[in-house]
Amino acid sequence: MSRIVGIIQTKGGAGRSTFATNLAAHFSLQAPTTLIDCDLPQGTSSSWYALRQAELPSKNLLLAKAHTHLELIQKAKEHSAVSGYLVIDGPPRLAEMTRTIMILSDLSLIPLGASAAEIWSTTDLLQTLDEARHYKPDVDARLVWTRFRAQTREAQELKDAVQKGLKLKELQARLGYRVAFSEALARGLSVEECADRNAREEAISLAEEVQRILAEKKR
Ligand SMILES: Nc1ncnc2c1ncn2[C@@H]1O[C@H](COP(=O)(O)OP(=O)(O)OP(=O)(O)O)[C@@H](O)[C@H]1O
Ligand SMILES: [Mg+2]
Repeated sequence: MSRIVGIIQTKGGAGRSTFATNLAAHFSLQAPTTLIDCDLPQGTSSSWYALRQAELPSKNLLLAKAHTHLELIQKAKEHSAVSGYLVIDGPPRLAEMTRTIMILSDLSLIPLGASAAEIWSTTDLLQTLDEARHYKPDVDARLVWTRFRAQTREAQELKDAVQKGLKLKELQARLGYRVAFSEALARGLSVEECADRNAREEAISLAEEVQRILAEKKR
């Protein structure tokens, strides 16, 4: 049985593929891991994977694609038999797929940029989360701040507002606004394989916190 981490956010460009690819690369150092790309035909995770396998082929990192929520359920079942971790890169909008990811995942992560527009769009997710909890009451979905500029007053004010308004748990780890994240994605790398030490430390803290949360859950 795999540990399953879903990356969901109804807003486009939120950072889902950045989270999915970095977590999948990290987990694959420890156990066979499948990255499931549900954001098709765009396929950012699939393109990243193709580049990566050409440069750094690894038998420990597999890719699966799911065009529909039914295909996702099938692929998750197949890959659970062979992988220790499944990381699911979700699509923007498409409530049905997002709901399925929440239900399948042991932990769903919601990347959230510190801007008012992104925070407003996240309120849509709350309805999908309620629907998912109708099927599985213990759905665990948590916010993770990204493109966060800790030194700005706006970021801190938005963070406080979100804690009051969205009432979702959040991870301690967060990703800053760093070019290394877009460079790594474009080159088929994880930021752990890049030169930016801050980005690397953020990605490792994120992966380790996710693994701690998964380890605390009963199977
Ligand atoms: N923390 C970050 N710092 C700087 N750039 C980032 C960060 N996170 C993501 N990006 C960049 O923002 C863009 C969108 O990120 P990403 O592709 O991960 O989001 P997405 O939610 O998967 O988007 P899409 O809707 O296109 O699938 C990419 O160019 C990515 O490299
Ligand atoms: Mg994407």
